[in-house]
Amino acid sequence: MRAQVGIVGAGPAGLALSHLLARRGIDSIVVEIRSQAHCEARQRAGVLEAGSVEVLRAAGVSQRLDREGLEHGGIYLQFAGERHHIDFRDLTGGRTVTVYAQTEVVKDLIAARLDAGQPIEFDVTDTEVRALDTTRPVLRYTSAGGERREVVCDAIAGCDGFHGICRPAIPASLCTVHECSYPYAWLGILADVPPSTDELIYCHHPGGFALHSMRTLQISRLYLQVTQDEDIAAWSDERIWDELQRRFALPGWELKEGPVLDKSITGMRSFVSAPMRYGRLFLAGDAAHIVPPTGAKGLNLALADVAVLARALAALIRDGREDLADGYSGTCLNRVWRATHFSWWMTTMLHATPGAGPMEAQLQLSQLRYTTSSRAAATALAENYVGYPPLHP
Ligand code: FAD
Ligand code: PHB
Repeated sequence: MRAQVGIVGAGPAGLALSHLLARRGIDSIVVEIRSQAHCEARQRAGVLEAGSVEVLRAAGVSQRLDREGLEHGGIYLQFAGERHHIDFRDLTGGRTVTVYAQTEVVKDLIAARLDAGQPIEFDVTDTEVRALDTTRPVLRYTSAGGERREVVCDAIAGCDGFHGICRPAIPASLCTVHECSYPYAWLGILADVPPSTDELIYCHHPGGFALHSMRTLQISRLYLQVTQDEDIAAWSDERIWDELQRRFALPGWELKEGPVLDKSITGMRSFVSAPMRYGRLFLAGDAAHIVPPTGAKGLNLALADVAVLARALAALIRDGREDLADGYSGTCLNRVWRATHFSWWMTTMLHATPGAGPMEAQLQLSQLRYTTSSRAAATALAENYVGYPPLHP
């Protein structure tokens, strides 16, 4: 078989890339180890930068997002029994973010590709990438029906997430990895109850961080900092709500409770593998970098990568121009490191490190007071949260 681009992974990065390439007349094949239902149900991100919305518009999949996405002009920072608003519109010249669940982004991207008559190979096994240092790299997989297939490509996009097979296909001697993990995790719930807030609340508390987010005006998404090795079985719905009530408590404000629809625990790490290219293999999204979720950057970085990659691959394959492909890794890593710093800064400012004691808490409170009282400091948070310079998808 032949395809101009072989895409490994049907997450937001791989799916968005397939559309951006199709718009440039480049054909691709998408292979995915999980089922369509699994990809569409996986609870993850919820906040899109304006640049990400532009990428999805350019991919031609923004009709529902434009209708149902919730525009947010700020966030709340809560600490020491006070809640402060960070006003993005005021601080960044009118810029905002959009609350629209990753599950919906993925559903829209899958539906648009299938409607265009371009298949996605779900439920594949034994994905392999070979001949990456030639101009005819090869993608091999076993289809859901059990047939072994080989696709000869002009380039392969490794969009297969942190645990995928593409990053390990790059010789280790050519990769530099930067990594740190955090000594805590997030317990996330999806709840069938209207949000108790108009914008997200990031809450510092001696008992641990909490976040109030939302999916729609009917469905809330909430997170609690828990220990790294926490057993989810120890967290009944009642215990979760009690702990959320304790951390978010504020006189005159009520946290509304409702049935828990989904419950999971996620570890937290910062990870960057560079360069994001080896020969004709290009990594994008979580395959190359991971940030802790506190800054809401992971999905946005994945979409930013593929906006740059689609242009680079079109220039390489259609016009025989190597310069954009050569610049791909450097261009993306610039943004990746900014987001890595911002996510680390938000995470360490807001979470209670086990065993850290009162010194850490005082430093965090000082930083939070400064961020909510100095226009310069608040602007730095707002600029990073709403996102970075235009992508020209
Ligand atoms: P993925 O979504 O991981 O997709 C990779 C795909 O590749 C998967 O479907 C996988 O099954 C497939 N795959 C893996 N191995 C193979 C193989 N061998 N062959 C074929 N296919 C393979 N980001 C934000 O921007 N904002 C947020 O608010 C936010 N909140 C988050 C909250 C949580 C709890 C979590 C866990 C993450 C959050 N993120 C957030 C991060 C965001 O979800 C990820 O960064 C995003 O999913 C990355 O997209 P991706 O396409 O690169 O990778
Ligand atoms: C979410 O809605 O899932 C979400 C929002 C903001 C974050 C992380 C997760 O920083």
